Amino acid sequence: MPNIMEIQDVSKIYGPLKALQNITLDIPPGQWLAVLGPSGSGKTTLMNIMGCLDTPSLGEVNLDGVKLSGLSPSGLTALRREAIGLIFQQFHLISYLTALENVMVAQYYHSMVDEAEALEALARVGLAERARHLPRQLSGGEQQRVCIARALINHPKLILADEPTGNLDEANEGLVMEILHGLHNAGATIVTVTHAPEVARHAERVIVLEHGKLVTDEYQAHPSHRPAGDNGRAEGLGGAAAGGPGGGFGTGGPVAEVDGADGFGAEGPGADGAAAVSSGALDTAEEGGSPEAGA
Ligand SMILES: Nc1ncnc2c1ncn2[C@@H]1O[C@H](COP(=O)(O)OP(=O)(O)O)[C@@H](O)[C@H]1O
Ligand SMILES: [Mg+2]
Repeated sequence: MPNIMEIQDVSKIYGPLKALQNITLDIPPGQWLAVLGPSGSGKTTLMNIMGCLDTPSLGEVNLDGVKLSGLSPSGLTALRREAIGLIFQQFHLISYLTALENVMVAQYYHSMVDEAEALEALARVGLAERARHLPRQLSGGEQQRVCIARALINHPKLILADEPTGNLDEANEGLVMEILHGLHNAGATIVTVTHAPEVARHAERVIVLEHGKLVTDEYQAHPSHRPAGDNGRAEGLGGAAAGGPGGGFGTGGPVAEVDGADGFGAEGPGADGAAAVSSGALDTAEEGGSPEAGA
């Protein structure tokens, strides 16, 4: 099978600063890749380029055989909506919509709303009972699980998670990592971006960025499969996220969209979303009729 993503000699340059320098990287289907590096090393910049939220200054990116440099901004947005699932550290949920409605916004962007399917997506991350709660009525871990449900609603070819556990305590970090394990076991291609080696360890392959350069690219013989403090509940969740027997990743009813980036317009970016907001805001502007923009 061809690679899901091919990054060829990509640099991102801001005046004198090279946020990314000559990155070359292939991601085969089904791989779980972690991008590890200290703050400022270029992780979010790389993730935004992978996620069609930003474009490189130099170099070429292919997503599932499509050359991104050949696309217009709206073509890039359309491809992102079709192919990418985004999970952010800052959640980017719309504060006045319930968990269920937040997932349904993602459906709206992708195709059409389907409450039963949105509820099912929440059930897969263990949140069936929280569907009618507003974000402020949910714990951080629950909010992040809503984001995961939202990210999966379009059955993305590539799941990108930027510091997905950065705002979570250890127990919730365990739950989120377990959901990612379930998705990976079901065949999803995942990129997790993190500054924390213990989070990166869950992936089968870890690349390390330093000052925008790719300095290490290693496959792990034994990625950690069980987070600390694991218990039966987490295991159940992982299984549920995988869709259970015969219900693997990418199968199921009509697809819909996740669009974390569009949440930026309404909610404002978190600190780490600053790089993404420039392009996220574009989307919102582009779609003046989006439900959260007008409300
Ligand atoms: N839009 C931008 N304009 C100027 N500099 C930027 C921009 N986005 C990111 N940078 C800089 O690029 C470097 C890498 O940033 P980032 O990718 O956010 O790092 P990380 O996610 O690893 O913390 C940092 O020095 C950051 O300040
Ligand atoms: Mg970052």
